[in-house]
Amino acid sequence: MTTQTEWRQERYRDGVFSHAVDTERHRLRLLESVLDPHSQARLGTFDIGPDTRCLEIGSGAGSVARWLAGRGARVTATDLDVSFLGDLADLGVRVLRHDMYTEDFPPGSFDLIHMRYVLVHLPDQDRAISRLVSWLAPGGVLVLEEPAFFPIAGSPHPAYREVMLAFRTYLEDAVGTRTEWARALPLPLAGTGLVDVEVDTRIQPVRGGDDEAEWWRLTLEQSRRPIVERGLVSDEAFELAYAELADPAFFDLSLAVFTAWGRRPG
Ligand SMILES: C[S@@+](CC[C@H](N)C(=O)[O-])C[C@H]1O[C@@H](n2cnc3c(N)ncnc32)[C@H](O)[C@@H]1O
Repeated sequence: MTTQTEWRQERYRDGVFSHAVDTERHRLRLLESVLDPHSQARLGTFDIGPDTRCLEIGSGAGSVARWLAGRGARVTATDLDVSFLGDLADLGVRVLRHDMYTEDFPPGSFDLIHMRYVLVHLPDQDRAISRLVSWLAPGGVLVLEEPAFFPIAGSPHPAYREVMLAFRTYLEDAVGTRTEWARALPLPLAGTGLVDVEVDTRIQPVRGGDDEAEWWRLTLEQSRRPIVERGLVSDEAFELAYAELADPAFFDLSLAVFTAWGRRPG
């Protein structure tokens, strides 16, 4: 029998964001190009060297694991599907097909754990965080980067707003994503045993034709059919939103991104 937890993971892994979808690798690379400068700036504030045991969870197309390996760290990169991580082994990265929600690591295995745009898709974030903390060695650091959708509701562009809000509803219903959970960060890290807990926030801009716009176009296109079939929004609205996202004069706000971190006492 399939449990609720396994079922939800299958909904992510086998759904519109499956690695088998032909545009998924490119979509993940666009996400990396938008987010990596911020991730690297934050991760670069921690002491990462040849003895640092790093865990990169939900590695996607692998850029953060690649960057950590470039710093000489001992990196483990995981994902539900590791088909985009083939080149990492050549860099000495241990690549694991691993579901962080149901599969374990020995307690205290890592000095740094990073997870980006994964937690909000899981059924119970508190449960996931307590598992992450248990895998940290004394003195180890947990870094979470997660998005929230609230800036979209205030968009002055009707087609962009309508389609993005339909997508948010679809994510919540079909994948089980908690689209505003990150808004509470860093509070979910309080009471987990972590100290020096902090958060950084920003709202990602989107300009017509830039990588963020192209990431959204592919994200929306991969989910378009089920969204239209559910009657959430029309095909015409998608076409109007795509025209906005391609227009060099278009400027709007995308998701709010929360980066939260804390340290296990040493
Ligand atoms: C939105 S993508 C983000 C990829 C990458 N973290 C990044 O920010 O570039 C989410 C990734 O998390 C993976 N994922 C989802 N649930 C997971 C789980 N329970 N354990 C490990 N990976 C998971 C997915 O397969 C996918 O590659």
